[in-house]
Amino acid sequence: MPLEFPLRGARLDLRPFTSSDAAAAHRIYGDAGVMRHVGEGEPSSPEQTARMLVEYAAHQGRHGFAFWAVIERETGALIGDAGLEVTAQGVELGYTLARNRWGHGFATEAGRLCVAAADGPLGLRRLVALADVENPASAAVLGRLGFVEDRVVRAYGRPHRRFVRER
Ligand SMILES: CC(C)(COP(=O)(O)OP(=O)(O)OC[C@H]1O[C@@H](n2cnc3c(N)ncnc32)[C@H](O)[C@@H]1OP(=O)(O)O)[C@@H](O)C(=O)NCCC(=O)NCCS
Repeated sequence: MPLEFPLRGARLDLRPFTSSDAAAAHRIYGDAGVMRHVGEGEPSSPEQTARMLVEYAAHQGRHGFAFWAVIERETGALIGDAGLEVTAQGVELGYTLARNRWGHGFATEAGRLCVAAADGPLGLRRLVALADVENPASAAVLGRLGFVEDRVVRAYGRPHRRFVRER
């Protein structure tokens, strides 16, 4: 069943990115501190951020899910991404928040919305997630979402803890 956006949590809305999110997204993806454990571990250039948003839109069109914009409802601010991506590991959950929004439970709330979408309308039985071995905050989020640690795999040239959630 197709998803209805926004996915609505207690404090957050999740919706597909649009090209008009590029500047706000780049404030997050261009921050080296945020990106240290994400993908290749490097901050994005503005062009790379714009390309990522195009790729998210294409992924959304192909699969009905993607990385989505995380909107803080109280302020309307775009504070990060969270979503599901088809990777070599399977359907992978990921999230990235602006540094000034860490420590508020937003990643867990956004991740929960993604898991509910997977369990419900998307009908995905199995999700995986990777957390850089040096990123315990991400592993803690996955534990709170009911993911179980599986084994260490190499991804993006670095060891990652792989987590699996099956329903
Ligand atoms: C990984 C990342 C998303 C984790 O963020 P986080 O803020 O630690 O995780 P949550 O949003 O779930 O918040 C949990 C923390 O908020 C606290 N918190 C405060 N208010 C809360 C509330 N209302 N509800 C729940 N938790 C709350 C919790 O106690 C917890 O703090 P603790 O870890 O000190 O115990 C964040 O560090 C990040 O974006 N990093 C950069 C990108 C990245 O690494 N992404 C993952 C790639 S695998």
